[in-house]
Amino acid sequence: MKMIIVNNYEEMSEAATELVADAITANPSLKLGLTTGNTPVGLYSRLCERYRAGNLLLNEVRVISTEEYLGVPPEDQRSLFSWLNRVFIHPCGIAPDRIIRMRGEDMEPQLVCEQFDEEIRNAGGIDLIVEGIGRNGHIGFNEPGSLPAARSRIVALTNETLDHNYQYWHHSVPQYGMTIGLATILAAKHIVLMASGASKAESLLQALTGPVTADVPASYLQNVPNVTVVADKEAAKLI
Ligand code: GLP
Repeated sequence: MKMIIVNNYEEMSEAATELVADAITANPSLKLGLTTGNTPVGLYSRLCERYRAGNLLLNEVRVISTEEYLGVPPEDQRSLFSWLNRVFIHPCGIAPDRIIRMRGEDMEPQLVCEQFDEEIRNAGGIDLIVEGIGRNGHIGFNEPGSLPAARSRIVALTNETLDHNYQYWHHSVPQYGMTIGLATILAAKHIVLMASGASKAESLLQALTGPVTADVPASYLQNVPNVTVVADKEAAKLI
């Protein structure tokens, strides 16, 4: 595991941008898994700036959108796909046929999750996945209790996650999500875990130095080789 510790959110975003942009330059048809949340916003906007300036070619990149709310269609502004579309997919000109997403609106969500994994397998797996970390140690929506062999699936969101997501919904946050499985994340060729701010310090400490346990799903990152953690000093202050 490689650690990059920087001063603040801006520097974290910049460091992650270098990593992702270098990976795209080395492999223009990169299969890029992208998470949601406040943490990667600076990364996505920087990648889009480079694309608009003509400094980053994205016309062959495939994007995998890694979480969704159950029952929420992509045209709902609060769907996670709609969010990713606004902050990355649309401004970066990613064509619909280069997107793999979880269809939260589908009437057969379990089947959708299985098809999502299959699509990723058929594409040859994820080359680079960007992840954030929840205050309870989740990655994606793999909440505590998730096992490393877990496939993409429907999950009940914990109260902690629901509280955090309240900022986007203001009322009645969906109780269930669909997440890329831990097994699918851990199989990615390169995992970039981003963390910013003191509120992530405890979960980052547990994830990186604590026991490898389903209680802290991000701790399974200790078991795979190609992980780069990009954290600011507030998030890394306990390590
Ligand atoms: C959500 C997302 C996670 C993300 C987490 C942290 O639960 N599903 O992927 O890591 O929020 O979000 P933030 O980056 O806003 O702290």
